[in-house]
Amino acid sequence: MNGRKRRAPLVIGNWKMHKSPREAAAFAAEYLVVSPDLPEEVNVAIAPSFPALERLGRSLAFTSTLLAAQDVHPESRGAFTGGVSAAMLSDLGVALALVGHSERRRLCHEDEPILEQKIRRLVEVRIAPVYCVGETLAEREAGLEERVLASQMAALDSFGQVPPSGLSLAYEPVWAIGTGRSATPEIANAAHALLRSFLAERFGPESAEEIRILYGGSVTAETAPGLFAQEQIDGALVGGASLSVPEFTSIVRSAR
Ligand code: PGA
Repeated sequence: MNGRKRRAPLVIGNWKMHKSPREAAAFAAEYLVVSPDLPEEVNVAIAPSFPALERLGRSLAFTSTLLAAQDVHPESRGAFTGGVSAAMLSDLGVALALVGHSERRRLCHEDEPILEQKIRRLVEVRIAPVYCVGETLAEREAGLEERVLASQMAALDSFGQVPPSGLSLAYEPVWAIGTGRSATPEIANAAHALLRSFLAERFGPESAEEIRILYGGSVTAETAPGLFAQEQIDGALVGGASLSVPEFTSIVRSAR
């Protein structure tokens, strides 16, 4: 059995700053009709905005679709106005959380030391971290993608030889996010293979084979099958296309 077969596919919808709690409930009503027919072997999660977590969580409670968060505060508690802690997310039934999405790296100046803290807070409350990495267009054109990905992996440095529990990676080249310009399956597969070699250097080849690496950046129902056919692509982090039930569920179906 090859490594790929050992890793259950994972598809996560990242709603970003879309859908109010009421709109999330409307999505759920439509989704619940089709979700019983989704392939059981594909793990599915949806990451709504913080205010919509509770409502969506209640709707998904009796399904196998997991609730995910888009972010978490790096501290456990305290005077951090606007902050949302890992324990608060856990209390709402959140099972996975994104860390280091490129929009947060760029707009909120989040760097590896902060992202490392966020991963720690999640692991403490048993939420599975989905650590996002990826190079910009300028970095790729300058041939720097390998160096950039290696430096982003530094957020895992302090974990020693044992990977954070439940860890997945999401490779999201910044030039492919929201641009309609998905990486080709071959480019994505090569980046995933590189990331898996970084994981193997840190955590050993066996652990590296267990960790899922998702691709993200303009994934659609049309591009998903080609991406999922690649050996190293274990699923997808889907932005725009996750806002529509037919589009999102079609991507989930193609991950089987
Ligand atoms: P996109 O976003 O699918 O809209 O490109 C992906 C992401 O940023 O997670």
